[in-house]
Amino acid sequence: MQALLNVAVQAARRAGDTAAGYFNRSERLEIHTKARNEFVTQVDRAAEEIIIDTIREYYPDHAFLAEESGAHGDSDHLWIIDPLDGTTNFVHAFPVFAVSIALQVRGELEVAVVYDPMRQELFTAARGQGAQLDGRRIRVSDHRDLDGALIGTGFPYRSNAKWMDRYLQMLKKVLQQAAGIRRPGAAALDLAYVAAGRLDAFWEFGLREWDMAGGALLILEAGGLVSDLHDDGDFLRSGNIVAGNPKAHDALKKLLLGCV
Ligand code: IPD
Ligand code: CA
Ligand code: CA
Repeated sequence: MQALLNVAVQAARRAGDTAAGYFNRSERLEIHTKARNEFVTQVDRAAEEIIIDTIREYYPDHAFLAEESGAHGDSDHLWIIDPLDGTTNFVHAFPVFAVSIALQVRGELEVAVVYDPMRQELFTAARGQGAQLDGRRIRVSDHRDLDGALIGTGFPYRSNAKWMDRYLQMLKKVLQQAAGIRRPGAAALDLAYVAAGRLDAFWEFGLREWDMAGGALLILEAGGLVSDLHDDGDFLRSGNIVAGNPKAHDALKKLLLGCV
């Protein structure tokens, strides 16, 4: 897996550093609207091309599921790519965004990279080998419940707006218990922060595979839990994710389910 991880790291750094070169240069950004409140720039597309080209140099037969270009190729090795997670932040020069790359082999997550080019923080994981930040082992926090916990989330804002009322109910409940809630605006990075113990738990609804795949493996390899809101669900399919250190994950999930 190390060779695959090295290629993913190379791709993420190339793409992330390219994106960082456009940061805060709004005169150079071409911003298009994909749907209401959903933006894409030439930087998202260029970053994705860089990632796919880099991986293809080494693995020409692998398949891809990438946010901007969709699904291509047919292989039991599937790269799941978010070239720029946090585009809304990026176009507002709000410096929280990341590149996320994950590899699934026969449906199992094997390799993950989340790269934050603003802080030059590189989160990596390979199945069975732990998770790292800049090469040093990371673990989820050991906070045991929601009291005093720092919780990350993402607000519903487009197709997931159907969750709005229930979500606001959940937000109120979590606010009443936790020490604080953060909504930085890049789900892949939020999940990486759970893996690094910077957040005790996280939840969001209506995400896509490329927002979650990399961060999910980071959390699992850092000793945390990642699941669907519903016990019989698959978060990668539903997009409704709850994650955290094992105790905070369970406490958060119980509280959220109480609002459904
Ligand atoms: C978005 C970010 C954001 C989350 C959205 C995602 P994008 O990804 O991860 O935090 O709330 O649901 O779509 O569109 O910037 O890649
Ligand atoms: Ca995303
Ligand atoms: Ca994106």
